Amino acid sequence: IKNIGVLTSGGDAPGMNAAIRAVVRAAIYYDLEVTGILRGYEGLVHGDFIEMNRKSVANIIQRGGTILKTARSETFKTAEGREMGYQQLKKHHIDALIVIGGDGTFTGANLFTNEFDFPIVGLPGTIDNDLQGTDFTIGYDTAINTVVNAVDKIRDTAESHDRLFIVEVMGRDSGLIALRSGIGVGAEAILIPEANMGVEGLIQRLENGRKDKASKIVIVAEGDEVGGAFNVGEALKQKFPNYDIRVSVLGHIQRGGKPSCMDRVLASRFGVAAVEGVLAGQSGVMVGQVNRELIFTPFDHAIKHIDAQQVSPAWLKLVEILSL
Ligand code: F6P
Repeated sequence: IKNIGVLTSGGDAPGMNAAIRAVVRAAIYYDLEVTGILRGYEGLVHGDFIEMNRKSVANIIQRGGTILKTARSETFKTAEGREMGYQQLKKHHIDALIVIGGDGTFTGANLFTNEFDFPIVGLPGTIDNDLQGTDFTIGYDTAINTVVNAVDKIRDTAESHDRLFIVEVMGRDSGLIALRSGIGVGAEAILIPEANMGVEGLIQRLENGRKDKASKIVIVAEGDEVGGAFNVGEALKQKFPNYDIRVSVLGHIQRGGKPSCMDRVLASRFGVAAVEGVLAGQSGVMVGQVNRELIFTPFDHAIKHIDAQQVSPAWLKLVEILSL
């Protein structure tokens, strides 16, 4: 292996730049050439490649987003699109790929590596933390800290006006952003798809909760079956007409910003491990960290996110105990 290609794909996540930097620097350390592929699989299909060196990744470890840009490619979902991508790699003499992204990225990588027997190693880069084979994904720590900072501010208003705030957070079909950030802000209730508390359950929780505390924070994961924070707001307004209720959807603020130190270190570790993995013959796998150890997990297993779907009842009990 002489030349490694690197790309970021799917939703951007804070720490992707730290991961790119680690891949580039590790490749150079091991005397490899490294090619940056722009706009994820879109750039791969269209041959949008740039040569990368030590300097092209200087001063990016602290920056959010991704310098390689990213996209959710429809073309790469087709067999023709992937064939075009393969031809581009051959033309540019690229021998292996390192892809940074989430489950969509690895679904594409899995098809590609099987179809063309082409070496690919993945790095988990998504704020959702919804992958199997790693305790944490790159971007999750920053995102939950962004949520905590935002909700702390909302709490000031909630307290001052005796209001109930329903705050919607991202996570697609996973409730892990909601769960951890909800505990971090001391939320009165957290609605996540893994638990399906429902509006009735929430009303019950609020009715059984403290009566002497008028301000309340409810965190709703966007993927919960209640169908978003505005739906919850409407239902609660009908049930509690005298309560001053506001809804806040945090949105893409959760994807941006400087990566936390935890995300920078995780990304750096993963980037070096991915290059070393490629050199050791790894392929069709995602690098992850479980109990502080680095491990490789096959793509088709990583995207099942079984652990993420099975939120331990102990976490939910924690929410109940702490919202007394
Ligand atoms: O996967 C990251 C994520 O931010 C999810 O939490 C969210 O559901 C989705 O991406 C939003 O995607 P887009 O930015 O394409 O609207």
